[in-house]
Amino acid sequence: MASVSRSSRLSFGLLIGAMLALTAVSCTKKSATNANEILIGEYGSFTGSEATFGQSTSEGLKLALDEQNAAGGIKGKPIRLISLDNQGKPEEAAAAVQRLITQERVVAVVGEVASSRSLAAAPVAQQYKVPMISPSSTNPKVTEVGDYIFRVCFIDPFQGLVMAKFARNELKNSKVAILRDVKSDYSTGLADVFKAEFTKMGGEIVGDESYQSGDTDFKAQLTQLKGKKPEAIFIPGYYTEVGLIARQARQLGIKAPLLGGDGWDSEKLSELGQDAIKGSYFSNHYTTESTDKRVTEFIEKYRKKYNGKTPDGLAALGYDAGKILFAAMERAPDATSKSIRDEIAKTKDFTGVTGMITIDAQRNATKSAVVVRVDGKVNRYVTTIIP
Ligand code: PHE
Repeated sequence: MASVSRSSRLSFGLLIGAMLALTAVSCTKKSATNANEILIGEYGSFTGSEATFGQSTSEGLKLALDEQNAAGGIKGKPIRLISLDNQGKPEEAAAAVQRLITQERVVAVVGEVASSRSLAAAPVAQQYKVPMISPSSTNPKVTEVGDYIFRVCFIDPFQGLVMAKFARNELKNSKVAILRDVKSDYSTGLADVFKAEFTKMGGEIVGDESYQSGDTDFKAQLTQLKGKKPEAIFIPGYYTEVGLIARQARQLGIKAPLLGGDGWDSEKLSELGQDAIKGSYFSNHYTTESTDKRVTEFIEKYRKKYNGKTPDGLAALGYDAGKILFAAMERAPDATSKSIRDEIAKTKDFTGVTGMITIDAQRNATKSAVVVRVDGKVNRYVTTIIP
């Protein structure tokens, strides 16, 4: 009796399994061959310690997608977006792009935010000759991977100069320390630029300590740096660690302002850092305090779609990346990856929410940066730096 019911349950289970497998196959097949829609892919950190990066980017991209589809898609065909989570892991990022291209058959890919993950996945896009647009990876090496890899943001040699200038000329600092994430291409690259530029301006780097993404105790490094009496500490990391570092720095009695780059941009920064991060400065791609009509309209549309949420820089860049991709798809004579690539490369004077975007011969964008001051949940606009 028992064995009969178990075997019937088993065969029922097998049947369901087989049906599910069939549906999965037919879904993929359908998505690969449906001539009535155009598929594009997106990969990002929708979960993990940089989850707001992936989520914000995706929200911005989806807003651009909605607008494009509402206006008739591309030459009458709707665009469908397939989003894959990489949990913030470089190896998962590469696997996601592999799957988007070989199984889902997307014609273009948007992603990633973090440079290390873009660097892991870009060779896959380049190998299959499918254009990839990173909305926000700022490490120079990303687009050097090949002629199918683009970005719509500025790069770290500029961002590092911006913060070095700000520390030297605005804050009048002469002794600054650095705390860098050695597991992140973004962090080490930006730290090196800052160091070189600040030193060139006559400043002195009095300490240069390191940590690894995922660390939670930074007291040893901070104690080292405190002994060097820096007037500011440059921490080109991501918000999760920076929030903790700020609190531990204050606990140790360090009063110097903290300085950072775009990796600080998250609503979680002030939640994690609380009062400890208040009054610190970072460079970013856009400011919500802009009075430019394009920006205020974007903020309004975004808030309407996402329950009153204010878009961060990543959302703005995700939106701009989508707009640029769709404009290229509209201009392209057909929906092949090659034609789309060629049109992305021709992007010129595109007025985005994050500024004017022209894709140069190195497939990068030359744009201005803003410096903001952390003030509780809002980041106050301080200044704009033009390249
Ligand atoms: N520029 C960062 C990197 O390359 C990513 C980032 C961009 C994070 C914008 C936050 C905001 O890794």
